[in-house]
Amino acid sequence: MKKNFKRILCVVLCASLLMGFSMSYSGFFETYEEWEGYFEDYKTDGAFEILFTVGADDTQRNISWYSAESEGSKVLLSENEDLADAVTFNADSEQTLEGDYTNRVTVTGLENGKTYYYKCVSGEKESDVRTFSTMEDDNFSAMFVTDIHIQVGEEGDLSKDGFTLNDTIAKATGNADLDLIITAGDNASNGLRSEYQGLSAALGLAEGVPVAMAVGNHDRKGIAYKYFTNQPNQYEEAKFHPYISYDYYFVKGDALFLMFDSNCAVMSEHRAFAQKAIEANPDVKWRVAVFHHELYGGRLPHRESENTLLRTIWSPIIDEFKVDLALLGHSHYYSISDVVFNNKDVTETNGLKEIVDPKGTIFMVSGSINNPRTIKDGEIPPLGTRVGHSYLTEDPIYNILNFTDDSIEIVSYTTKSDVPFESFKITKTTNEGGHPEDGTDWYDPIVRFIADVYGKIAEIAVTNDMLGKKDQLIGK
Ligand SMILES: [Fe+2]
Ligand SMILES: [Fe+2]
Repeated sequence: MKKNFKRILCVVLCASLLMGFSMSYSGFFETYEEWEGYFEDYKTDGAFEILFTVGADDTQRNISWYSAESEGSKVLLSENEDLADAVTFNADSEQTLEGDYTNRVTVTGLENGKTYYYKCVSGEKESDVRTFSTMEDDNFSAMFVTDIHIQVGEEGDLSKDGFTLNDTIAKATGNADLDLIITAGDNASNGLRSEYQGLSAALGLAEGVPVAMAVGNHDRKGIAYKYFTNQPNQYEEAKFHPYISYDYYFVKGDALFLMFDSNCAVMSEHRAFAQKAIEANPDVKWRVAVFHHELYGGRLPHRESENTLLRTIWSPIIDEFKVDLALLGHSHYYSISDVVFNNKDVTETNGLKEIVDPKGTIFMVSGSINNPRTIKDGEIPPLGTRVGHSYLTEDPIYNILNFTDDSIEIVSYTTKSDVPFESFKITKTTNEGGHPEDGTDWYDPIVRFIADVYGKIAEIAVTNDMLGKKDQLIGK
């Protein structure tokens, strides 16, 4: 059902003699000036920088926020707008490198088709009352965007970048009732808290739509991703896990989302994570992988040698676990692949609007929200060899993914038009789909082993490097 997106700023100031103050915003901002005013307040009013994220499934939501004090940090959750009969969920609080606290709560026991209200409390301070709704059934719509690249500094404008994200989500909510926002990483250009403030300020306008973020190479330049996120089912068993992130998974409707940190090349850990996630959810129909580094889009010839290695190490996992759809970023160029299995074309999708029981995986890359790439030096950059659909634009792209019993429909827009430039549907007539049982080449285990050794050394080096530059991590 299409819903009109809200263009009216609604600011409610609630004062409390003893509890400080809280502010409530509803809807998106049509003009930069309105957004700028909101964002200036957001940075200074102690809005807690709340990030509302997916829970392990639709009976849960995860919430995280910053606070000066950790004492008494909790979420009050109720079915009543005035929070009558609220249930209390106490937070796990962690002191940040800056000295304040990040607080994490998982609210549980949510029922389908209901509306809930909540607020975050830390010490004497409390947030505004926020709301969210759970899904009626297993059908849902997700917005997929990537490479948001909110950036502070000489080349970026933090506030303008946040406004672009606000505008993108506003346009998406005008074309779908969103139940989920997915990003494939490079959420922030330097991984800094100020950049993530812009992210949480814009995402917070999405009226209780939970976000699931993958981590990009740019996010790992700082440490804000670790502090802002509260991920379900983190794969903490990884012995050489990345310093700031874990693989994690969640179930939405009848879809299992595998959120990989592709910065880490320790493929044995990624494989073990995927196996655990799938064994815990054997009957879920759709398997969607989300990670940052694209594999097949092309357009950036200087990355071909890196991409060749990435394809070799990722394709066995994607094939073994029969992933239906992989959502990727990094190149800043939009593409939808052919059906790929064993790193080879199985079915060309060029000109097709639908593929039924594909015998492999569709890889989708979306463009960047704040740094779109298009024609370069007057020339069209070359496509990858396994690309079925592509689109060049200098405008931000968002994609609506409609999950139903038997299909995932991908509908892609730029923020400049309400008419989609692309529509492509993956249909499965059975839970199994059409993936063959085995397509692994003999050399795959060797390449994986080499990647593991390299990945473990690289993770130790990255960790040591990050620990040695604490101030840069937090942006001071
Ligand atoms: Fe990027
Ligand atoms: Fe990237």
